[in-house]
Order: sequence, then C-alpha cells, then structure tokens
Amino acid sequence: MNLYEKIETKIKQENYLTFDKYMEMALYEPDYGYYDNPQTSLDPNNCDFITSPELTRLFGASIYNFFLKILKNHSYRNFTEFGAGSGKLAYDILCEDLDNNYITNYYIVEKSKKLINDQKRNLSNLPGSIYKKVKWVKDASDISSSFFLANEVFDAMPVKIFKVINNNYFEKVIRINNNTLIYDFIKAKTSFIQEIEKIQKNIGLSFPNNYESEISFKSEEFIVKNFKNKKDFIFLIIDYGYGQNEYYHIQKKQGNIQYYYKKNKVIDCLAFSGNVDISCNVDFSQIYKIFNNLNHNLVSYTTQKDFLIYCDILKQADQICDELKRNSVLKTLLFPTDMGETFKIMLVSNKTFRNSFDINDIRHKL
Ligand SMILES: C[S@@+](CC[C@H](N)C(=O)[O-])C[C@H]1O[C@@H](n2cnc3c(N)ncnc32)[C@H](O)[C@@H]1O
Repeated sequence: MNLYEKIETKIKQENYLTFDKYMEMALYEPDYGYYDNPQTSLDPNNCDFITSPELTRLFGASIYNFFLKILKNHSYRNFTEFGAGSGKLAYDILCEDLDNNYITNYYIVEKSKKLINDQKRNLSNLPGSIYKKVKWVKDASDISSSFFLANEVFDAMPVKIFKVINNNYFEKVIRINNNTLIYDFIKAKTSFIQEIEKIQKNIGLSFPNNYESEISFKSEEFIVKNFKNKKDFIFLIIDYGYGQNEYYHIQKKQGNIQYYYKKNKVIDCLAFSGNVDISCNVDFSQIYKIFNNLNHNLVSYTTQKDFLIYCDILKQADQICDELKRNSVLKTLLFPTDMGETFKIMLVSNKTFRNSFDINDIRHKL
C-alpha cells in the first residue's frame, strides 16, 4: 500500500482526516512519510530546505561554546538532542568536544526510523570511543541532569488548522473526491473552539471573517511527556516563529504553515503527499506557557542573530579562509532577512539563571 492508499483507507474509515492527522501521516508514516521516505535527503546539495547545521559546522561550534558557558556553573555531562535529522549537529558538537571530553552521553530522541539509520551511518565516522557515547532513546522522560537541544523540531510537529466563517469556527479536514485529496471544513469541536477563543482573549482581538490559522497541540504533548517533573536541565530551543501577537496578527489571514518542494515554496501539499516538507512557524508564547504551567523557568528568549553573536560565531568564522563562503554563511545565519531574526532562541530550565546571560532579551514579545 502506498501513502495515498493508506490515507484513502483512513478517510474511508473516518469519513475525513483532520489536517493534523494528515500532517502526521504525510511526514512520519513509516517508509512513506516525508521524514521516513528513502527519497528524502537533508543533504544541502539535494534537499528541499537547508537547516543551519547542514549549512555550516559553525552552528554546532557556536552551540558548543554556549554549552561551555553553561558548564561554568553547572556540571552537565549528558547532552540530549531531539529530532537530530541527518546527525550533522550531533557530529559537529561531538567533534568540538574531542579535546575536552566533557560529554559522557549524547542521547538522541528521533521519531523517524529512516533518520535514525542515517544518523547511525553518519555518526559512525566519529572515532569509536566517541561514537559509543551516542545513544538513541524513545523519549527523554528518564534522562535527568542534561543539556537539551531541539533545532527545527517544533516546526515539524503536526498542527490543527481552524477557519473563521461568519463568526463560526471550522476545522480544516482532508477528504477524497474523484481519487483526489481535497480540503474541506467541519464544525470545530468545543475543545478546539475554547483554545481559539483563549488566543483571541490573550491577544485582545477577534479574528476577522475567513481568517485561517493553526494551533499545535502536539507541542504540549511533547513537552509534558519529556519535561514534566524534570529536575535538572536546561533546554535550548531554536526555531522560526513568533510571540502570539505576531503569530496571530489579523493580517496573516493564511496562517503560518508552509510547504517546501525542491527548495521552492509550493502552495499546496496534497498532490505531493510524502514528498513535500510541511512545517509551521512556532508559537513561542504557547511554548512558554506550557513550560510555565510545569513550573519551569524561562531563562531567555532572543533572536538567532543575537544568540550566535553571544556564542562568538564571528570569531569562529575566521576559520573559514574563503571570504565569499564566510560572508555567505554569516549572512544566512545572521541577517534579519535570512535566519537572523525569523529564527528565535528560547532557553528554559528548572533553575533560575539570574543575570547570567548578557544577550539581547525580547521576552516582552511573548
Ligand atoms: C526539520 S528536521 C530538523 C533536523 C535537524 N534538527 C536539523 O536541524 O538539521 C525535523 C526533525 O525533527 C524530528 N522530529 C519531529 N518531531 C519529533 C518528535 N516528536 N520527537 C523526535 N523527533 C522529532 C524529525 O524526524 C526530524 O529529524
């Protein structure tokens, strides 16, 4: 059965698939979903989108510099990465640690079996004694005392889509018509409506007619599963997104979801199910609230540009002799029009880090 047939079977059973269930299958269905499909490559020469670690080892080196700053006051020996993609970031961080040997265990929590295999293959190029430190685990609920990292993971979690039509709330679903997947809307369930209304109350606005946007319920599930009652951690989240006022700006009538195919944005994903990357900007106000409800602390919220400069990326970049290449990499990572300001850094911990980081703080935007 191919992915279309699997989706068709589900739709026949349930009459429709809500968009989040469709997104789950389109990205993660074993062997066929985008991240599990043997055709999908994260290699910069042959991919649909390029993440920072795939662009340059400077990204991993900067994160390692940040880890060293944390080690001045906290003795973390465990490093845990969620959604490690090809394993490139893990590779770069472990190479940076070769001389210091501070990291005892490098845990990876990865959802895609195909990517776990890619990670094993790529990381096996490390010296044997270093490769032995890498361990794949199902989730992080049993890992205590660790530095946690997630680069572009929350944006790859399925979202529900709502639409406001004549003051009523609807949920986007997928149906089949003439052997083709099509969009449709059903009346939103009460629990979904309550969340939509909560957001409008938070931002002090009502969504206009035909307004369409997303809510990620998976983020909450993921955070609660991995961080409820977590005792000794700092979690570095890197992703593109905004605080709720920008995320749900009333002029953003088409929402925050995007589809990439062969490095180009496409307007729809249904015709290419399993071959298109589907991702959604992250609502960082929501992430903050979830951690706050678990009694964890927001340590910092800033832009990727300010964070990487704080981690001495400019000094690191001197190692790239080719000036054109150096400037191009720095431009992509730091310029506001590239990743510099669209990508944010959120740091969360069970501890308080009073005045520890001299990074431009934009917590007021949450
Ligand atoms: C956009 S890719 C980013 C890969 C890598 N972090 C990078 O920066 O190159 C998203 C990654 O997150 C993984 N992922 C998504 N949801 C996950 C979850 N709930 N648990 C673990 N991994 C997840 C995907 O399988 C994939 O490896």
